Amino acid sequence: MVAVCLICGPLAVAQSLQPPVWAFPGAGPPKAPHAPGPIHLPGSDLTLPAQALSDRTRAVDWRPASHPVPPEIVVHSDAPNAGACGFCHLPDGRGRPENASVSGLPAGYIVDQVAAMRTGDRKAARPDWLPSAVMMNAAALAAPEDIAAAAAYFSARPFRTHVRVVEARRVRHPQEAGYLFRETSGPLEPLGLRIVEAPDSVERFELRDPDTRYTARVPPGSLVLGRRLVLTGDGGRTAACQTCHGARLTGGAQRNAPPLAGRFPGYLYRQLLAFRSGARAGAAAAPMRAVVTSLGDRDMIAAAAYAASLKP
Ligand code: HEC
Ligand code: HEC
Repeated sequence: MVAVCLICGPLAVAQSLQPPVWAFPGAGPPKAPHAPGPIHLPGSDLTLPAQALSDRTRAVDWRPASHPVPPEIVVHSDAPNAGACGFCHLPDGRGRPENASVSGLPAGYIVDQVAAMRTGDRKAARPDWLPSAVMMNAAALAAPEDIAAAAAYFSARPFRTHVRVVEARRVRHPQEAGYLFRETSGPLEPLGLRIVEAPDSVERFELRDPDTRYTARVPPGSLVLGRRLVLTGDGGRTAACQTCHGARLTGGAQRNAPPLAGRFPGYLYRQLLAFRSGARAGAAAAPMRAVVTSLGDRDMIAAAAYAASLKP
């Protein structure tokens, strides 16, 4: 008995610092390729070749009239191992759950983060996760003047949320696909301690429709606990998030503390994991590394869920 406990204790702690596997959904089963002909999106006048959906060197821009002409790097990059910023983050920076919303972030923060990715101060919580690995390549390869132009452009785009946060005890068996989940018609299963983010329309998601909306299912009680963490650090267990990120988490309360409200909860949670594991290091990350030391998985899921539920 004693021997078992001596082994179990330290192991249990070590394991709890490992990023949980569910937070990094895989590519899923191979998709049936689109028919080679042109593709359409309801509501857009454009017609695009089907290969546009898999060529990350060019952004898929279904609604060019909805934003100013972006800087070149946002819509085109010659580096196939990196890609055009707007392919992943979408041409106006609103992002998708497997990457990040970059619209409305302070331009200086964007420049600093990309620089930290280049120097290695900011690594991903799981460096082998393809979306993050390719972002790190994009940061390494882009010229500083291109990053500055992209930062100014994304920063000026108004940010609106595209995710609805719903507490749920159970979910329809979620299937990994395209580095997030989709809900199937399979049996209900316990949600447990997870965030399951899925597009409301898989078809729109696959077409890279910027107006795709998402639903994130989070454990019951997350929103109340998250609110307590944000307002009081849950009675002083950690620093209250609002002191730096602002009362409604819209940023700006302390220089460098970015807005969090309405951003994808899976992304926010992966960042908390990165601070906790030390993957996001460097001087800029020091305040957050202190904040997360006293937080467990339930707390981090709750804080991410509550932040995502707020109006930006
Ligand atoms: C292959 C898809 C992809 C491309 C191309 C890409 N990104 Fe990203 N980006 C991501 C992912 C994934 C993340 C989250 C990384 C992580 O794990 O921390 C991210 C994160 C970011 C962040 C951090 C946001 C935050 O809130 O801290 C910024 C800023 C950013 N990207 C800017 C850019 C810029 C500028 C470009 C073009 C030079 C670009 N990205 C190209 C996928 C991409
Ligand atoms: C002492 C100030 C401070 C407090 C308190 C604080 N933060 Fe932060 N937070 C920051 C700073 C500064 C950054 C940017 C770090 C960087 O540049 O790497 C940040 C970044 C983040 C990010 C990453 C955002 C992104 O776009 O990648 C998340 C998520 C986050 N904080 C959540 C929280 C939560 C949740 C709390 C409360 C439990 C909290 N923060 C409390 C200062 C703070």
